[in-house]
Amino acid sequence: MNDKDALLLKSIGEIASENPEKIGVFKKYGVDFCCGGSKTLKDVCEESGIDQLLIADELNSPSAAAGNDDNYSLSKKANDWDVDFLIDYIVNIHHTFLRVHIPEASDYVEKIANVHGNKHPELLKIRELFTKMSQAMILHLDKEEEGLLTDIKTGKTGNIKKEIEDALYSHEYVGHILKEMLFLSSDYLVPQDACASYKHTYKLLKNISDDIMIHVHMENNILFKKI
Ligand SMILES: [Fe+2]
Ligand SMILES: [Fe+2]
Repeated sequence: MNDKDALLLKSIGEIASENPEKIGVFKKYGVDFCCGGSKTLKDVCEESGIDQLLIADELNSPSAAAGNDDNYSLSKKANDWDVDFLIDYIVNIHHTFLRVHIPEASDYVEKIANVHGNKHPELLKIRELFTKMSQAMILHLDKEEEGLLTDIKTGKTGNIKKEIEDALYSHEYVGHILKEMLFLSSDYLVPQDACASYKHTYKLLKNISDDIMIHVHMENNILFKKI
């Protein structure tokens, strides 16, 4: 089997956890590397009409480093971390990030939807979606911290299978909403007439969206695989 065929038969999650610098290529092609991580690259290409040889070439190219920032290199190291350390990292970095930035973004989304919603009606829909996503995400963080993640650390295995299924479901739900928000905002592209608050809101939403993708990738493709 040649390199390309071997790559096509790997799961997206496997490729992303072994070589997180390739996540930039997945993002370029709109390949879901966090919630959709269990599918093979070949299946995803067939489902989404992506040229298999083209994407395999790009993934194999040494310049496939579009996502080469701290978050990505850390997620590569996370493969070697022990489970307790990985859980502490996820909670202290990603859960804390969301608990701080979701309320901030929520105030800004409210503000720009009120001021610019007439001229940019997509903001009204983005506000509705962000509210739904935030509520689901905060509940999910609480549930993970009190249930699944504590149970893993304390070795309470009775509910773990069900708790992982619930977590996968919540990740999928939040992932769908984030995709819709990305589509409505044209990937958080600020319009010509955007004021400073508008720009800041889109920056916050983009950061939240990127952070959730890495967070879910670490849980689905690294943590849950270790258990
Ligand atoms: Fe989490
Ligand atoms: Fe989660």
